[in-house]
Amino acid sequence: MPVVIAHVSDIHIDAGPRAIERTRRVFDHLDALPADLDLVVLTGDVADHGLDSEYETVREATATRHPLLVCPGNHDDREAFRRTLLGVPPSAGPIDQVHRTDRFVVALCDSSIPRQDDGYLADTTLEWLTTELDATPDGVPFLIGFHHPPVDLHTPFVDPIRQFGEERLAKAVAGRPNVVAFLAGHAHTAAATRFAGLPLLVAPGVVSTVPLPWEGERAVHLDQPPSLAFHVIDDRHRITTHYRSVV
Ligand SMILES: [Fe+2]
Ligand SMILES: [Fe+2]
Repeated sequence: MPVVIAHVSDIHIDAGPRAIERTRRVFDHLDALPADLDLVVLTGDVADHGLDSEYETVREATATRHPLLVCPGNHDDREAFRRTLLGVPPSAGPIDQVHRTDRFVVALCDSSIPRQDDGYLADTTLEWLTTELDATPDGVPFLIGFHHPPVDLHTPFVDPIRQFGEERLAKAVAGRPNVVAFLAGHAHTAAATRFAGLPLLVAPGVVSTVPLPWEGERAVHLDQPPSLAFHVIDDRHRITTHYRSVV
């Protein structure tokens, strides 16, 4: 059986009903699937203003029967994220988390920089990632996720606030044959490209879609349905991604 991972991003929960309704629509869709997913990954910008009250709502809006792993984005606050979403003592360091099974590993790296919109992986995060890679047998596929994509995506609003210092990440995964792909959010557009010789798969934004330069002048689309990605990894470690809208 292949590994199936749902990838959701940029739910931007605030005090209004719109983001909650769209997020719940996505998670209700996942909960109504006839089979269990191996994991749901949520790649950041979960609370629009990083408030404890928003994280309380995030907990309800993302409640699911599937295993869930969440990383912060530039809209998140590490202390409130830890305190209210994860239920652990608050601290200011990067929130790096791993989901480890016998069949696959997903490492979510915290690419946020407190009070900045662009992204960067701290040295401690890259050291943590290296330790997790060292702990993974060669036969186990390994996915690396974060909020900020480490390359330009031809999105004029997002490219200036992407993840920088990306050559350090490329070096960390060099010579690691079990790394299958990178997963990201932040761009509010379903996109696929390559980084460090591997697929870089960007989940669409649940709350909105950012138009591309050839699509016109609008800064953001609010009327397109929320959508998500399904990543499928077969026993030869080949990844296939399907993008789905939830009407
Ligand atoms: Fe976002
Ligand atoms: Fe973002």
